[in-house]
Amino acid sequence: MNQRVSCISAVTARQIFDSRGRPTVEADVTLKDGSTGRACAPSGTSTGRHEAWELRDGDPASYGGLGVLSAVAHVRGEIATRIIGMDALDQAAIDHGLIRLDGSSSLRRLGANAVLAASLATARAAASHLRRPLYRYISQLGGDTPMSLPMPMTNILSGRAPGDQGMDFQDFLVIPVGAGRYADALAMISRVGDSAAGLMKSMNLSVLLADDGGFSPGFSRTEQALELMVRSFEAAGLRPGADVAIGLDVAASELLVGARYRLAGEGRHLSSREMIDCLVALIRRFPIVSVEDPLDQDDWEGWREFTLSVPGIQVVGDDLFATNLNRITKGIGDRAANSALIKLNQNGTVTGTLAAMAALRSADFATVVAARSGETEDTFVSDLAVGSGAGQIKIGSFRNTERLAKYNQLLRIEEESGLPFAGVSGLSGRLGST
Ligand code: PGA
Ligand code: ZN
Repeated sequence: MNQRVSCISAVTARQIFDSRGRPTVEADVTLKDGSTGRACAPSGTSTGRHEAWELRDGDPASYGGLGVLSAVAHVRGEIATRIIGMDALDQAAIDHGLIRLDGSSSLRRLGANAVLAASLATARAAASHLRRPLYRYISQLGGDTPMSLPMPMTNILSGRAPGDQGMDFQDFLVIPVGAGRYADALAMISRVGDSAAGLMKSMNLSVLLADDGGFSPGFSRTEQALELMVRSFEAAGLRPGADVAIGLDVAASELLVGARYRLAGEGRHLSSREMIDCLVALIRRFPIVSVEDPLDQDDWEGWREFTLSVPGIQVVGDDLFATNLNRITKGIGDRAANSALIKLNQNGTVTGTLAAMAALRSADFATVVAARSGETEDTFVSDLAVGSGAGQIKIGSFRNTERLAKYNQLLRIEEESGLPFAGVSGLSGRLGST
């Protein structure tokens, strides 16, 4: 057995709860020198078909089947046995070892929630052993990737049927494109959030929050939501398109019924071509600079057509790519998009996620590190966004502590590191450099 002090000496895990009150996995990794790392797995709601597998107990008597005690047992058992004695500084060997141990194509056996929590906790323990901030360690793991503070894209309005009074499109986000510093970007986001709340109250609309913290006014037509976004910008004294712009997450896989996209609010059922035309018309009318998941996760041809139809716009694949290197490689070859959302738990390991990001970067695709709707106090994504030089981050609204924990971590990193703010340079399209 390897005797270095950076070797893993203990691994444990427990069931904790995410921001939706659902069980999730937390893992602790301890090294021989006493360094420790703790990390939690996040969890999505609009989970794509091609994501790594989230293992749930399925026992209806316990948390409606959503318990994660089996995943926890895998961390304490097989995963611990596999990685105890391995050098935490060799993240790639640990992650590849876990993937081999699982043996399935999408971490179905051990659970991506189990594997990811162990992978993230290992990276944290290694950074702590080196007495290095996590973001710097992540940069090193990626081959000394140039670091920067990411441009945030932040939920103001949220759709998502039916719990959140369903709007057709999932997220309406503000992107503070005119901000020169990360702290200024947050100030703009805060102003827009406050003015949106004020406007909604004056319209007698509910300002209850959706899972990712956006307001959920339940407009039946997408235009109403976009108009409210623009009015919120103006009411905040910000110039639409110059200071702040709109990002959309259509989450279109959720809309597909048979071969058509069902816009329930508008009572329309659109073909792929009609969906493209609908989005192009919205982009002409409103200051939209980024569109995520405009079409279904398997509509590759539609994606290609859409990307060609909207030059200058960032087209982000979330469910399409699922932070999966094979799908990203296909998407790069097809030019199906020009940007990708990066979700650690779609992939399952730190090494796999960094490999996906490296492939995107070398193809000049933009990257947006993202949290999930089910989050914890864990701020790994903030360090990942900085250390990988992702350029952009999407961690939900400027409300709720599980979101603010991540925005605040970026403020601390900005203060201690003096790293540059990516601004719009990380965006794909006419505003950015890629
Ligand atoms: P999630 O979706 O609820 O699955 O985390 C967020 C997103 O679509 O970006
Ligand atoms: Zn999405």
